[in-house]
Amino acid sequence: MSIEARNIKRAFGDFNAVKDVSINVASGELVALLGPSGSGKTTLLRIIAGLETADSGQILFHGEDATDTEVGDRHVGFVFQHYALFRHMTVFENVAFGLRVKPRHLRPSKEAIRDKVMSLLKLVQLEWLAGSYPHQLSGGQRQRIALARALAVEPKVLLLDEPFGALDAKVRKELRAWLRRLHDDLHVTSLFVTHDQEEALEVSDRVIVMNEGRVEQVGTPSEVYDHPASPFVYQFLGDVNLFQGRVHDGNVRVGDWSVPLPDGAGVKDDAATFYVRPHDIEILAANDSSNALKAVVRQYSTIGPRVRVDLDRVDGGAPIQAELNKERFLELGIGNGDRVSLLPRRHHVFG
Ligand SMILES: Nc1ncnc2c1ncn2[C@@H]1O[C@H](COP(=O)(O)OP(=O)(O)O)[C@@H](O)[C@H]1O
Ligand SMILES: [Mg+2]
Repeated sequence: MSIEARNIKRAFGDFNAVKDVSINVASGELVALLGPSGSGKTTLLRIIAGLETADSGQILFHGEDATDTEVGDRHVGFVFQHYALFRHMTVFENVAFGLRVKPRHLRPSKEAIRDKVMSLLKLVQLEWLAGSYPHQLSGGQRQRIALARALAVEPKVLLLDEPFGALDAKVRKELRAWLRRLHDDLHVTSLFVTHDQEEALEVSDRVIVMNEGRVEQVGTPSEVYDHPASPFVYQFLGDVNLFQGRVHDGNVRVGDWSVPLPDGAGVKDDAATFYVRPHDIEILAANDSSNALKAVVRQYSTIGPRVRVDLDRVDGGAPIQAELNKERFLELGIGNGDRVSLLPRRHHVFG
């Protein structure tokens, strides 16, 4: 079932938390709502869920107006960061809960409930925990059970608000891959809130980037990463070096660099900020290119197969961070205090 939010606005007192937001999630899609803390993601999600009302705007499910539909009639499943399981109930009973509280004429038989719960536990790969209590589970297991519980009532739409937010990095990574596989099996229309760009880019079919109550950009993970629509999106999606330069005749000049503007940048001749990601900065031996920015290695650190290098510009400009493969780094044979030349492999200028 598709989800559409049209011109949603919501203020708390005189603070506008959601400012005229319109979004679409196609049936069967997994979409990430990505933005920094306070950007209005949870408020928007709660309005879609029916847990919060908008000041104006419409919510449509499957093209039909659901703005005034009660939460219980929206057929929505939720998983929140701290969506506590019932402590006094076993895992089995937790997952069965939504089915057991259905009105008598809609409630499945005892056997049907048992089969359904066990198949859901199998789906989240935790059948062996059916008889356990929540306090006997790890954080990651609890969130998988919370998801099984949300799925038990066969929601048409799944809304997840930072479901892995409280878990440690390694478990988060495992669960996001797991969620992606689960979604590929089930194809329940899902809207997934996160402030973690890596999580959003890895898990979703499309990303909606929010900032200060507005949508900044919507696109596939590679569209938003490779073609950010604004400086905000560029900086939010990954580490970046900023250079203050000048655009002239289709080139941008920063210190000793003069590089052609990327196609279609549509930038006037003027002062401009020039963005380069650390892995798009090429490090060359000191006098390798005359059209290069000269810098000195301040320090470097090895993170698995990658090396991060902090550099100081010889001309005194802001420090630069570069990132490269360990092999390439060893090949260069550089160390602290060495002079190098830098070239931008890819860069971006916003007009
Ligand atoms: N019930 C509320 N009362 C007052 N302010 C709120 C309420 N809910 C959210 N806000 C404010 O609205 C802004 C957006 O909040 P939220 O939607 O939770 O953002 P996010 O989920 O992106 O972190 C925040 O500044 C928050 O303090
Ligand atoms: Mg939130």
